[in-house]
This record gives sequence, C-alpha cells and structure tokens, in this order.
Amino acid sequence: MDYGLLRASYFWVLLTFPCILLTVVYGQFLSKPDETVKGVLGGRVQLECAEFSSLLYFIWNFVKLNTSLSLPIASSFGGSSNVHAIAARLGDVSLINSTLVIKNLQTSAEGTYVCQVPYEEEGVQPIYIDLVILVPVSKPLLRINNSAAVEGSPVMLTCLVKNGTGPIEYIWHRNTIQDGTVPVADANGSVVSLSSVNRTHIGWYTCTGKNEVNQETSDKVYLDVIYGPDDPVINIQPFAISETGFAANEQEEVIMTCLASSNPPCQYIWFYNNSQIYSGQINMLTRSLQASMEETNKESKERNKST
Ligand SMILES: *[C@@H]1O[C@H](CO)[C@@H](O)[C@H](O)[C@H]1NC(C)=O
Ligand SMILES: *[C@@H]1O[C@H](CO)[C@@H](O)[C@H](O)[C@H]1NC(C)=O
Ligand SMILES: *[C@@H]1O[C@H](CO)[C@@H](O)[C@H](O)[C@H]1NC(C)=O
Ligand SMILES: *[C@@H]1O[C@H](CO)[C@@H](O)[C@H](O)[C@H]1NC(C)=O
Ligand SMILES: *[C@@H]1O[C@H](CO)[C@@H](O)[C@H](O)[C@H]1NC(C)=O
Ligand SMILES: *[C@@H]1O[C@H](CO)[C@@H](O)[C@H](O)[C@H]1NC(C)=O
Ligand SMILES: *[C@@H]1O[C@H](CO)[C@@H](O)[C@H](O)[C@H]1NC(C)=O
Repeated sequence: MDYGLLRASYFWVLLTFPCILLTVVYGQFLSKPDETVKGVLGGRVQLECAEFSSLLYFIWNFVKLNTSLSLPIASSFGGSSNVHAIAARLGDVSLINSTLVIKNLQTSAEGTYVCQVPYEEEGVQPIYIDLVILVPVSKPLLRINNSAAVEGSPVMLTCLVKNGTGPIEYIWHRNTIQDGTVPVADANGSVVSLSSVNRTHIGWYTCTGKNEVNQETSDKVYLDVIYGPDDPVINIQPFAISETGFAANEQEEVIMTCLASSNPPCQYIWFYNNSQIYSGQINMLTRSLQASMEETNKESKERNKST
C-alpha cells in the first residue's frame, strides 16, 4: 500500500471538508433531491451514499426540514468510520460501510441527508436524499354528542385521530342485529352530522382512520334514539269484523294485543268506557265482559316513566 498517497488524501479531506459543508448548507435548497425515501415512525431506513458501498472517504450531513442547519452525523476518513453523537436525535444510527442505517426512526429525522464523497476526481456530486417520516394513525376516538337523542333532534358523531400522517381517510360503519354491519350514508370525513335523527340510525357505530401506513378502528359506541310511542294498533284474535267494529262469538275467548312502537318500550293500559280495566300489552277477555266490550273499547298507553 502506498502510505504516502493515503496520507496525502487524508489531509486533502481535512482541508476540503469545511468547504464541502458550506456547499451543503447553501447548495441544498437549490438542488432537488436525488431520491425521496419514506420511513415509518419507529421503523428503519437505509440511505445509500453511492452505488458501491465500500467507500473510504465520505461524510453524511443532515439538514433538518425547513432549516439551513447542516449537521455532520457520520463520516469516514480512510476507512475508519464514525457516527457522531448528535445523530442520536434521529433514531438508532449506524453505518454499514457508507450506507446510513437508521432504526427506531424519530419524527426529528425528517429532512435532507447529504452524502459527500471527496474524490480527487472532478465533478463528483454530493447525493441528496429527502427523508419523509410517516406517522401511523393512532386508534381513533369516536364521540357522539348525544348518545340517547330524541327522534328529530340533531346528532353529531366525530372521529378523532390524534396521530397520523395525512391524508387520513375515515370509514364509518353501523352495526345492528337486523342489518349487520353497514356503511354510514351521512358520513363526511371525520364527522357524521345527522340533522334529524330517527330510529333507523340506532346502532353500534365505529370509525376507522386510514392512511398510507396503516388503519385503526375505534371502539364501538351505541347511538340510541328515543321515539314513540306511535299510534297504537289493536290486534284481536280470533279475527272477525262486524259492521260496527270487531265481532266475537259469545262463547269464544278473545285475545286483544295492543302494539305501539316505542323506545324505551311503553306501558299499556286498557280502558273500557273511560275506566281503566287492565294494565299490560295483552288483554284476555272473559266471556262475561266480552259481549259488551265489543266495538266500544278504547285503548290508551303511556310512556314507561321508569326508563
Ligand atoms: C463493506 O465493504 C467491504 C469492503 O469492500 C465489503 O467486503 C463488504 O461486503 C461490505 N459490507 C456490506 C454489508 O456491504
Ligand atoms: C416546510 O416548508 C414547506 C414549504 O417549503 C411547507 O409546505 C411545510 O409545511 C414546512 N414544514 C414544516 C414542518 O414547517
Ligand atoms: C401521539 O403521539 C405522541 C407523540 O409522538 C405520543 O406521545 C402519543 O402517545 C400518541 N398518541 C396516541 C393515541 O398514539
Ligand atoms: C350535537 O351537535 C349538533 C350539531 O352540531 C347540535 O345541533 C346539537 O345541539 C348537539 N347536541 C348536543 C346535545 O350537544
Ligand atoms: C363535507 O365537509 C366539507 C368540509 O368539512 C364541506 O366542504 C363539504 O361541503 C361537506 N360535504 C357534504 C356532502 O356535506
Ligand atoms: C330517517 O332518516 C333518513 C335519513 O337520514 C331518511 O332517509 C329516512 O326516511 C328516515 N326515516 C324515517 C322513518 O323518518
Ligand atoms: C259502556 O257504554 C255503553 C255506551 O256508552 C253502554 O251501553 C254500556 O252499558 C256501558 N257499559 C258499562 C259496563 O258501563
């Protein structure tokens, strides 16, 4: 090995590097990056200085995003390579020959990486790599501003994703026993705004936040809608209609069922000639009453006050 030549190039490096650093600082905003690399927060990237990795002389500089501060983070002088302490703020930085390896990436690692090779040849350009740090979406928090709304009132559902690189896509689902899991029609991004909520909106809601890294789904949240009671309907069995109303044979037993759609479920009270005769949804008539009750019974119902 020609010791003299190696020594000469070592001094060349020492003399030239400060000039190179200045070139980096003022030159980098004029240059487009040679490459843009995407890394994921907490993940790993590998930045290559040159096509062939076994370089004896190189220096890696880091220029923080939107600043002009250039920090030397790693270098090699004649084969003895060194990662500088300041590089620790970027993640776990190491070198594989001239390739910079960053594990456990931090958001502060976002910026431009410049590798310079002080060859004695003319025209060797530094390499610029822009590193973009992508943040995975965190688990969304789904909020309903009124989780027991009265039918007809406005309700707003919001999906909060605390961390995550945009654009974030929001996907909404509603789950019920009858319908299964269905997409929510009124969704607009992170918000579902129901100007007049109705019983078809009842169910378990989830929202999913999705970006180019990952997707996460919120816990399910129940939207209850208070409604009714609707106008009650009386069902009579056995079913027979006379000119003036329902009819039944004198010997038969008659089962009358009152049904009014309501949430929470309603209480049923039966009236005959304006007096309360029975409380409960199903009214089984005895033979003695039944003839006179024909046609004239009225029904009414009350909201169950306990719920
Ligand atoms: C590093 O460079 C040496 C010498 O050129 C080479 O033998 C080795 O394979 C390189 N290591 C890697 C991981 O590229
Ligand atoms: C950096 O500057 C660009 C425009 O030059 C801007 O779009 C971006 O938001 C800035 N980033 C930060 C973190 O300030
Ligand atoms: C969001 O990011 C911050 C800072 O990186 C972290 O402290 C926090 O735990 C993250 N929140 C969630 C919900 O992941
Ligand atoms: C819920 O949000 C809607 C829409 O912003 C609003 O009109 C309504 O008053 C809110 N309800 C409650 C209980 O805060
Ligand atoms: C969705 O929200 C955006 C802004 O939040 C608004 O500009 C747009 O008109 C909304 N779209 C609908 C269909 O409501
Ligand atoms: C409930 O609201 C949806 C729109 O959000 C509407 O299409 C539907 O007709 C409403 N249903 C009733 C029973 O009012
Ligand atoms: C109920 O009212 C009808 C007509 O108003 C009447 O004919 C009938 O006797 C009344 N029955 C009872 C048990 O009061």
